[in-house]
Amino acid sequence: MKSVLIKNIKSLYGIIQNVSIQKKSGTEMNMLDSIDNAYLLITDGIIKDFGVMNDLPETTAEVIDANNGYVLPCFIDSHTHIVYAKSREEEFVMRIKGKSYEEISEAGGGILNSAGKLQAMSEDELFESAKARLFEVIKFGTGAIEIKSGYGLTVEDELKMLRVIKRLKAISPITIKATFLGAHAIPTEYKQNREAYINLVLNDMLPKVAAENLAEYCDVFCDQGFFTVDETERILIAAKQYGLKAKIHGNELGYTGGVQVAVKHQALSVDHLEYTGEAEITSLKNGNTMPVGLPNCSFFLGIPYAPGRQIIDAGLPFCLASDYNPGSSPNGRMSFVVSLACTQMKLTPEEAINATTINGAYALELSHTHGSITKGKLGNVIITKQIPSLAFIPYSFGVDLIETVIINGAKIN
Ligand code: NIG
Ligand code: FE
Repeated sequence: MKSVLIKNIKSLYGIIQNVSIQKKSGTEMNMLDSIDNAYLLITDGIIKDFGVMNDLPETTAEVIDANNGYVLPCFIDSHTHIVYAKSREEEFVMRIKGKSYEEISEAGGGILNSAGKLQAMSEDELFESAKARLFEVIKFGTGAIEIKSGYGLTVEDELKMLRVIKRLKAISPITIKATFLGAHAIPTEYKQNREAYINLVLNDMLPKVAAENLAEYCDVFCDQGFFTVDETERILIAAKQYGLKAKIHGNELGYTGGVQVAVKHQALSVDHLEYTGEAEITSLKNGNTMPVGLPNCSFFLGIPYAPGRQIIDAGLPFCLASDYNPGSSPNGRMSFVVSLACTQMKLTPEEAINATTINGAYALELSHTHGSITKGKLGNVIITKQIPSLAFIPYSFGVDLIETVIINGAKIN
């Protein structure tokens, strides 16, 4: 039995006593329970006990001195595309000069650009570069992550991406969930015959992904210029038959019905939501689908932000993720996502932390083990440098305030 005791914690944040709480909604999102001057005991990788320093138990545990830093649960990043071949800064420069994301996509750039590069790269090379990104974000405080395919767009290359994710799972200290996103874009050679590509996803890709047990979830980019609501429905119905729940890219580029189709098919989450109005909010209220904002993408592409404030004020839960990918969010630092949510979506720091911890865990079906300081959950925590307050985290945007990351009770170096 190996125990680790973190002592001299200025404030231990993100406590949820009741392990059966899976997510926070509406006004609950502003509540982030804490204990000042605290300790935290992790035994065999699991949170065993916590309390005030005056009640510190006798223990032979290895001691980590938080030195008056704050301790929070690790971030849960429920939406990433970290398996990719090359960066895309040439498109970034094209956008600076006036081209839009959609214009670049229509001209064969964007996702198709990434697909071409990924198809030319070996599985081993992809694995090495994705592994570097995985360990990069763990050092930024991410304690569980979702990774999508979607830059393969051929049967073999989609499987190649998912096999890379499977290999990452085998070496990763943090939990990884894999999502099949064959319907990310229509390849150029299918532009005149979209139906043939949909059939490839339905009849070739999905059965093979399921047979090799390569994914937990299925995603579709349901948006203007990408996949229609009808196409999305057909893919989600088929995916369900293979046991894959839905996580949807929706309403990034317009009011396209992505939210409504996600709720209708009991998607676990619907992500992006830059175009979300009353109809979308009403739809979300009629289901259990987690709305997920991706503010890095709005920041980087210069598009509207998802209305996180209105979503929470409607009594709904709200989650935030990085969308780490080479096209719309080449950055996986979740503390920056928290800053953007506060400055641009007007979330309070407490709401933004709940959105990136317990609600992220819900969006990956990990609430029973991740996303809060709860006895019995994994000992995945961030120890901060000495800072004056919780609000100082989003206030100091872009600044690295993490002193130590602990995963399963062990320090990450
Ligand atoms: O979430 N919007 C769709 N997919 C990704 C971006 C893909 C890309 O541009 O490479 C996203 O933003
Ligand atoms: Fe995405």
